[in-house]
Amino acid sequence: MTSVRRAVIAGTGSALPRRRVSNDELAKTVDTSDEWIIERTGIRARYIAAADETTATLGAAAARAALAAAGADAQEVGLIVLATATPDQTFPSSATKVQAMLGIADCVAFDVAAVCSGFLYAVSVAESMLRAGTADSALVIGSETFSRILDWEDRGTCVLFGDGAGAVLLRAEHTAATDGRGVLATKLHADGRHNELLYVDGGPSTTGTVGKLRMKGKEVFRHAVLNLAEVLGEALSAAGLSVADVDWVVPHQANRRILDATAKKLGLAEEQVIITVDEHANTSAASVPLALDQAVRDGRVKRGDLLVLEAMGGGFTWGAAVVRF
Ligand code: UT7
Repeated sequence: MTSVRRAVIAGTGSALPRRRVSNDELAKTVDTSDEWIIERTGIRARYIAAADETTATLGAAAARAALAAAGADAQEVGLIVLATATPDQTFPSSATKVQAMLGIADCVAFDVAAVCSGFLYAVSVAESMLRAGTADSALVIGSETFSRILDWEDRGTCVLFGDGAGAVLLRAEHTAATDGRGVLATKLHADGRHNELLYVDGGPSTTGTVGKLRMKGKEVFRHAVLNLAEVLGEALSAAGLSVADVDWVVPHQANRRILDATAKKLGLAEEQVIITVDEHANTSAASVPLALDQAVRDGRVKRGDLLVLEAMGGGFTWGAAVVRF
């Protein structure tokens, strides 16, 4: 039997801030309502980080949970790729902060900036490096504290986002060429012509400030459904598979209506789509690994299942990964 070196998901983990904020609680300070938010987005609550909960601390907690799920020791980790648009500091990278928190003396560690698609970019980079032999074991983390860059006066955006982190431990293993476990294909895209539809109005090299998130929601929505359906098909065909082979789609959690429209466009059943946007809101790079960890822990996603992970966000950037779990 021919085998191939692949990046296999050995364990998943996630972490949420202590404080859960319902739509009703938000409506006390923002001109909005539980009804509007649920009807337009499917969001019922989000988690908001306290001052002592940062992108690095949440990321480290998710990483510890992923290591525990895999029965792995932190010392086996040779690579940390952390996807975030809200790092603790401009530098050093939050990946190196997580490395220090986990007590790893030496490994490769860096951040990836692709906003909501960050986890897909990070998985793609990490699995390439594992296949190339740079390391044998990698922590891939999506961690965000978007509450810090929200304009709490802008009801069109502040109700949509939340904080959190998710992680996977990827291990290089030789698995069967035809139906073996691991990352089977990834497909990434970017189109910088759409920078101004979803961006932060500050930064070290421009204003010298952190800035606040700005979004033209309707236009992002329109692009999201088209791009996601297309990239999902591209990743599946790169793996030599089709929609009929898919057990679960683990999508970026931005808006329930985007998830429903994408599933419908592809002919997927609603029950095959993992949905956590109701409880987590949009956690940017953290949303896909948070949703994956939830579906693994509640027993829906099982060893051998075929998953498609997908996301789209600022840039625009978008991508998908086909994984046999
Ligand atoms: O993660 C990156 C990807 N991001 C996304 O995918 C986000 C994509 N976009 C969306 O999810 C949706 O476009 C939104 C949820 C952002 C907005 O939904 P919409 O159906 O496009 O609503 P809208 O922006 O057209 O607003 C409709 C109305 C407006 O009032 P008028 O002008 O019709 O009187 C808004 O002022 O709803 C009003 N509105 C609100 N009302 C109560 C906007 N935000 C709120 C709010 N509460 N929070």
